[in-house]
Amino acid sequence: MRMKRDVIVACDFGSAAEVFRFLDLFEGQRKPFVKIGMELFYAEGPSIVREIKRRGHPIFLDLKLHDIPNTVRKAMKVLSALDVDMVNVHASGTIEMMKAALEGLTRQDGSRPLLIAVTQLTSTSEERMQQELLIGSSMEETIKRYALNAREAGLDGVVCSPREAGLVKQACGDGFLTVTPGIRFAGAAADDQVRITTPAQARELGSDFIVVGRPVTAAPDPVAAYVRCLEQFI
Ligand code: C5P
Repeated sequence: MRMKRDVIVACDFGSAAEVFRFLDLFEGQRKPFVKIGMELFYAEGPSIVREIKRRGHPIFLDLKLHDIPNTVRKAMKVLSALDVDMVNVHASGTIEMMKAALEGLTRQDGSRPLLIAVTQLTSTSEERMQQELLIGSSMEETIKRYALNAREAGLDGVVCSPREAGLVKQACGDGFLTVTPGIRFAGAAADDQVRITTPAQARELGSDFIVVGRPVTAAPDPVAAYVRCLEQFI
């Protein structure tokens, strides 16, 4: 498995037909690391994971589990059997829940997918976090603490903005992975992303994996856009 620095393409499509039409473009090319999110997984079920895997793509299954530890352990066991390469949980589920996730993921031979924690969703503002969720700390302090909790539980890294990658690396060490969305090419539209960086900037800021959706999936030539990401980031 490719462990270090890669471009993950967010396949935010609503059906198997659309995702396969997209992946067919990569026939005979380097097979991108693919992110499957809730929409596609809930629409198509585990068979979509098996089929994309069969085509030779590493898979990040982005389901952001958050439940009682026992439920998360058992759910992770099921996902691990799907032979995905990366999965995630919410760090707010507690260290105990993250440890349970790791146990569930670990196969009999000791192998397992990478396990990444979501700290605070980038859609949550500091104001809402403090006023609705009654978390009194700053966003930075919260992200740092959640990342440290994830590391203590034995997880491999966190999802964060490239701009937070330095903070996370400083707190948790260089080997702790940062998986970073919010990537745009220089001069491109931001869409609904707010704090964006280019693939090259993400690399400079210490990202290990960039998650790129629309700049590749909606490009006139998706393969060329993917190759451009690779050239800037790897
Ligand atoms: O199309 P775009 O490049 O904005 O897609 C980014 C992907 O990363 C989407 O699948 C989005 O849900 C995901 N993501 C994000 N910000 C986060 C966590 C995940 O954009 N904080």
